[in-house]
Amino acid sequence: MNPFSIKTYKGPEYFIDRKVESRKIIDAIESDRNLTLFSHRRFGKTMLIKHVFSKLDYKTYEPIFVDLFATRNFLEFAQKLTEVLYDNKILQESGLHKIMGSLGVSLTFDPLSGIPQVNFNLANPENVVKGLPQLFRSVSDLKKNVVIAFDEFQEVANYEEKNAEATLRGMIQSFPEITFLFSGSKKSLMKEIFLDANRPFFQSTQMMELHEIDRENYAQEVFSILKKNKKPFEMDVIYKILDLTYCHTGFTQMVLSRIYSESENSIDQEALEHVWSDIMEDHKSMAREQEFVLSRQQWKILVAIACEDYVLEPQSRAFIFKYELPAPSSIARIVRSLLEKGLIIESGEKGLRLFNVYIQRNLQAIYGKAG
Ligand SMILES: Nc1ncnc2c1ncn2[C@@H]1O[C@H](COP(=O)(O)OP(=O)(O)O)[C@@H](O)[C@H]1O
Ligand SMILES: [Mg+2]
Repeated sequence: MNPFSIKTYKGPEYFIDRKVESRKIIDAIESDRNLTLFSHRRFGKTMLIKHVFSKLDYKTYEPIFVDLFATRNFLEFAQKLTEVLYDNKILQESGLHKIMGSLGVSLTFDPLSGIPQVNFNLANPENVVKGLPQLFRSVSDLKKNVVIAFDEFQEVANYEEKNAEATLRGMIQSFPEITFLFSGSKKSLMKEIFLDANRPFFQSTQMMELHEIDRENYAQEVFSILKKNKKPFEMDVIYKILDLTYCHTGFTQMVLSRIYSESENSIDQEALEHVWSDIMEDHKSMAREQEFVLSRQQWKILVAIACEDYVLEPQSRAFIFKYELPAPSSIARIVRSLLEKGLIIESGEKGLRLFNVYIQRNLQAIYGKAG
């Protein structure tokens, strides 16, 4: 088995670091505080929530994980929630019937497996919204501390219903005994939802941003995982992987996972070159495609940022001069558009870089790395 999981949570022995972050979330749960976890994609929010949930004592806690990705309205929200409650055996069939009555949805049986499925096709959206509190009630009635995590929560901001945030906020407020975790990837959107004074969720939760795992901690834990699995390795090569991927968890784990399974013997320089050139090749066309979907100026700035690793002051004279870029005012606008597209990210005090590490390294290979 490959210890560098990239798909599912495989248990604490394969989970790297995040000790402080886990503690912080558990503290919030134990103190009945709602918490919002946000970061750019692939930093490890989903995994961290799964990790925290695995640490809770199931005798006293009932953790419920709801992925809201690609939900567009309350109907789909209710559907996701019902499915999870049913899968977790929180809603038994009798309870399910009662709630379905109030949601106005029907139960159908899969003709092959006989497994009941909640059918929302004919549901009246208004009834669903009215019936939603019933769903929350069914869990809050459990004789346990219920924790509900809504992952990809930023979807709610784009729900078809007007005032979706206000509706949900109202519902949540009437269940103070449930602890809610909100997690989301569109950093700016999550901040707007929770930090904009005009929005319903304003300052209603503890805010927590997830950053890169500390390089040294990351390296040490990778060393110990490799030792435990009796896989020979060169320390330098591990550091090299962390640096090539800027310690951006999802991208780092992918390289580790591949080099673990593709290196015949030791994880050495040669193995890295092999795996890395393969990954670069896989992303080459993706890197080049950007040129055709972006405007000329957007493309120029994207390449300039890529070549720099990180850019602290994109409007500085030095940066503009070096890459022959337009005036500072247009740069500000273009940078904003690249941020909105998710092509570049703001990485704390280090500045801007490309979201996709592999595209960034490709562009550096093509256009030359600064420095
Ligand atoms: N602490 C960790 N240890 C090991 N792998 C991790 C860790 N955090 C994230 N990963 C891996 O990195 C990838 C991205 O993590 P994920 O939780 O999906 O990020 P996010 O939810 O922020 O987009 C996943 O493949 C996951 O398995
Ligand atoms: Mg996620």
